[in-house]
Amino acid sequence: MKFDILTLFPGIIDAFANESIIGRAKKKGIIEVNAINIRDYSEDKHKRVDDYPYGAGGGMVMQVMPIYNAYQAVIKNCKKKPHVIYTTPQGKIFTQERAKELAKLDHIVILCGHYEGVDERIIEEIVDEEISIGDYVLTGGELPALILVDAISRMVEGVLDSKETMESESLYNYLLEYPQYTRPYEVLGRKVPDILLSGHEANIKKWRLEQSIKRTKEKRPDLYEKYLKSLANGENL
Ligand code: ADE
Repeated sequence: MKFDILTLFPGIIDAFANESIIGRAKKKGIIEVNAINIRDYSEDKHKRVDDYPYGAGGGMVMQVMPIYNAYQAVIKNCKKKPHVIYTTPQGKIFTQERAKELAKLDHIVILCGHYEGVDERIIEEIVDEEISIGDYVLTGGELPALILVDAISRMVEGVLDSKETMESESLYNYLLEYPQYTRPYEVLGRKVPDILLSGHEANIKKWRLEQSIKRTKEKRPDLYEKYLKSLANGENL
């Protein structure tokens, strides 16, 4: 799985992608994350990448050609056209289901916007899908792009340690994760639930599922509805 990220701030992408689980998956060669600096593809002698909006109004707009040139450089040696995502609050809200679907692709390009956005014509020309990470506005598309990389990568085989981790975790079947405990047994006057010390695997599994269901119902009734529906449909995410 390869991610090519078109950005004005490659340092943000590299700083994240070289650490922790994503960094480990990169070292193992399971995923590739490249940050392409749009500024390197500016045709202007001052390396300009933005300009004033037509029709006035505040802010600056990212120009078509630096982005287009960066994209052409990315696809130069590709046999197949990659899937191109633009991160924007105008997009469809990102979900775990979409992460799982996108994890089946082998090449994703993510365009990160800045300032007042990008010239509409580059969206028309290269973008396949617009994604928002939530109903709030950020200063740029880099954090959303990294959220996509993180959520998609962990659904790629081999990125997490075992399939089990993936399956038991939050949201995988529309359920939140059950409560976790580690040593010491007692801390700040609070003890670990006895069942977890029983060594009875089947009972522990049952208790964890009950806890997940209870939590989801209390904290995220919207997800709980989806869970009930998925059960009724015999669906397995
Ligand atoms: N760029 C700025 N805000 C964003 C958001 N909420 N989602 C995706 N991209 C964005």
